[in-house]
Amino acid sequence: MQTIVSQLDAAFRSAISAAFGIEADPLLGASQNEKFADYQSNAAMGLAKVLSEKTCQKTNPRAVAEQVKAKLAELNLLGEMAQEVSIAGPGFINIRLAPAWLAKQLGAIASDPRLGIETAASPQRVVVDYSGPNVAKQMHVGHLRSSIIGDAISRVIEFQGHDVIRQNHIGDWGTQFGMLIAYLKYGLHLSGSGVDPSGVSYPTGSPFDAPHIQDLEAFYRASKRAFDEDPAFQDEARKTVVRLQGGQPEELALWKRIVDETRRHYEPIYKRLGVKLGMENERGESFYNPMLRRVVDDLKAKGIAIDSEGAVAIFVEGFENPLLIEKSGGGFLYGTTDLAAIRYRVEKLQANRIIYTHDSRQAQHFTQVFTAARNAGWAQNVSLEYAPFGTMLGEDGKPFKTRSGDTVKLKDLLDEAERRALEVVLEKNPDFPESQRGQIAHSVGIGAVKYADLSKDRNSDYVFSWDKMLTFEGNTAPYMQYAHARIASIFRKAAGTGAIAPNLVPQLESPFEQSLAKHVLRFQEVIGLVSRELKPHHLSAYLYDLAGKFSSFYENCEVLKSEEPTRSSRLLLIDITRRTLATGLELLGIEHPDQM
Ligand code: ARG
Repeated sequence: MQTIVSQLDAAFRSAISAAFGIEADPLLGASQNEKFADYQSNAAMGLAKVLSEKTCQKTNPRAVAEQVKAKLAELNLLGEMAQEVSIAGPGFINIRLAPAWLAKQLGAIASDPRLGIETAASPQRVVVDYSGPNVAKQMHVGHLRSSIIGDAISRVIEFQGHDVIRQNHIGDWGTQFGMLIAYLKYGLHLSGSGVDPSGVSYPTGSPFDAPHIQDLEAFYRASKRAFDEDPAFQDEARKTVVRLQGGQPEELALWKRIVDETRRHYEPIYKRLGVKLGMENERGESFYNPMLRRVVDDLKAKGIAIDSEGAVAIFVEGFENPLLIEKSGGGFLYGTTDLAAIRYRVEKLQANRIIYTHDSRQAQHFTQVFTAARNAGWAQNVSLEYAPFGTMLGEDGKPFKTRSGDTVKLKDLLDEAERRALEVVLEKNPDFPESQRGQIAHSVGIGAVKYADLSKDRNSDYVFSWDKMLTFEGNTAPYMQYAHARIASIFRKAAGTGAIAPNLVPQLESPFEQSLAKHVLRFQEVIGLVSRELKPHHLSAYLYDLAGKFSSFYENCEVLKSEEPTRSSRLLLIDITRRTLATGLELLGIEHPDQM
């Protein structure tokens, strides 16, 4: 179904062109205040200015608005859509939609599992680069935000009918692997023969006495300490990188072990979070290895990259520090890999749009990489979009840490979320069936963490607060999930009392029904907005309003006890409401239990 806004847009464009012979954007949007209008056009003010200049006569915006309104009526451009068109203030054109028309629209989407949401007429191939944890390091809260936001964006764009390719650009390559592999080798030998293989001295008293890479972080820390404290080990680590990069089987096998071990840590986190990233989405830095030499050579040949103090650098206007793509003495960098990735995504994956959801601290990196790729002509028919996000803060306003100041382990965070969620749910409903408790704690707890993130404009930092995210009041996951479960329970009660009459055109008699119906019919507009701006909080704000409008409706209008055809009509309205809530929550990646 066409959105209301686009239908109005078409009508207004025709009216403007008929009235003045010019093409202009009607500047339509949903009205800020439902009391005065449903939609509003703000075009008259700008049009008056244009017309004044054209005719050398002062033109009054209100008079312009009157003319547009007259053309709308004369040419019957709005058909049955509008009940009233009125002019307010300096020349705003207000549109009040007709309840009968709204009712017809609702009837038309009632049996559509997609709730009338169109699929893209010309589907795009969209690459979304998100999460990107680093090997042998703990996934941190930045990766949490990236995973949650990137996944929601992917779901929304996919729902529009585009072909989304998720890419997990994990940090699985680089000089640190020399250190890690050398250390692992050392451990393997220690645990076997006790003989140091390479004859180098290793720091004594190292906590590392066996190939204990299960605790990856401890492993990383220990090897880093060896690297910092022991020049001989450092030397060995450097030689190891060279062997790894030269493709030596022993080093490669150990590298793979470390990568596999890391994957064992983040896979269950994705599962728990409901983040759709699997092995098939993994395109780590190592994947681009064979392409890096050519990237540097091509950029040099084009004069985009230059030799600078022994290294190869790209100077981008507006930045003091260049983007380095080859170190002095050899070795490629983060930027080289990202340039290769763009090339791959454009040439091989045939992307029309490439989206990166990563920390705003990487803004400089992505701006430089995008500029270089564009200058090289590697990004010609593709839109490169960076959707950054701010920092997650603790309640003290400082970056989120544990009480002792350590980074928070995601697993612990998610455990705590589920534990607290269960408490909150049991407080509200102490008789909640034992058998479903684990599942509900999971849905609500994980939902709360995700929703708290997705309900804020991603650009700003946000304060992580257990109490706020787990309350049933306000724009939170439990509130939204509860609204959904409440409607589901109405249908459980309705089950014995007769079905909704088939092919029913609902009636929207009360202002509560009308307001709810209008909001439901805006869903597609909001999905479009999220996809354009890459901001899931628009969707959460929409769902929050939807839940609010449902509540006012339900408090004021009888449903099950009302007479037919009102009863069926209202059941239909809340069925569509429930499905809109469910679909919206799914697009955010939030579960919606039927009971809580
Ligand atoms: N591994 C990076 C980090 O932890 C994130 C990867 C972002 N993606 C990219 N194409 N650079 O910060």
